[in-house]
Amino acid sequence: MQLSDIKKIAVIGAGTMGSGIAQACAAAGFQVTMRDIEQRFVDGGFRRIREPLQKRVERGKMAQAEVDGILSKIHGVVPLKEAVDGAQLVIEAVFEKMEIKKELYTELDRICPPSVVFASNTSSLSITEMATATKRADRVVGMHFFNPAPVMKLVEVIRGSETADDTVRLIQEVCMKLGKEAVEVKESPGFVVNRLLVPMMNEAFNLLQEGVASPEDIDKAMKLGTNMPMGPFELADYTGLDIGLDVMEVLFRETGDPKFRPSTLLRKYVRAGRLGRKSGRGVYNYTGT
Ligand SMILES: NC(=O)c1ccc[n+]([C@@H]2O[C@H](COP(=O)([O-])OP(=O)(O)OC[C@H]3O[C@@H](n4cnc5c(N)ncnc54)[C@H](O)[C@@H]3O)[C@@H](O)[C@H]2O)c1
Repeated sequence: MQLSDIKKIAVIGAGTMGSGIAQACAAAGFQVTMRDIEQRFVDGGFRRIREPLQKRVERGKMAQAEVDGILSKIHGVVPLKEAVDGAQLVIEAVFEKMEIKKELYTELDRICPPSVVFASNTSSLSITEMATATKRADRVVGMHFFNPAPVMKLVEVIRGSETADDTVRLIQEVCMKLGKEAVEVKESPGFVVNRLLVPMMNEAFNLLQEGVASPEDIDKAMKLGTNMPMGPFELADYTGLDIGLDVMEVLFRETGDPKFRPSTLLRKYVRAGRLGRKSGRGVYNYTGT
């Protein structure tokens, strides 16, 4: 399949990432379906797309016609069959749980023609394992966007054990059309960015637990000492402490290497529901902000 053959993209999952990916694909001119398991989640996806775009219009940074153009290309649906009907590429952004993803891929494989390419936005799970749920392992690939997907430039293109060269090339071309920069990564736990970034955030929790410095000073040290735009705790609160913990669990389980052992403080915060900005409290408190 060539890039020019791709007219319609089905995005499965309308959460944080699925909605952002749907927006990025529509802005690049593709017809998009955005599917979730219930209408209220699809509506939530549209809200996540619409509200920031509307703010850009109010600030005079974007024309209303452009926003309307993007939204008109996205069709929200619940039935899976309707979502993938006529799509040449499926981008999956459902929960980071292997059983859920595999169940979905089995169903997708049953209802999509064999030429359709399946790309997973997984942050850390094995593309090779997901592909075993299908009969098209050569057309299953990782397409790891970063949050917020319409803004962040990078996409890690993950090659599973059986992914064909043509599939990797096609996804790289799609990335280019979306205005993204692709890096090709062989399957490995955490790929490149999360393998480097999440253990750094985890170590910040170890520093905090040892009482080496305050959260504010740890963030300040990394921002001013390494030019990071956000400190490790600001970033952890932004992405979600539970997401960071999930990635550490995968790195630790897959490698068995003690350097990837999740911080007990990070675990404690997640157990307490301190998940970051989304729950109102993580390392920092966001209630009243
Ligand atoms: N949040 C991030 O910063 C980030 C960054 C990169 C990649 N990811 C990855 O993207 C994926 C989605 O993460 P998210 O943060 O958007 O999660 P999220 O919880 O915001 O959204 C997931 C959505 O998937 C839906 N869903 C579950 N099963 C489904 C199914 N069978 N069909 C359709 N929809 C289904 C849920 O209802 C939910 O709306 C995960 O694999 C995650 O690891 C997340």
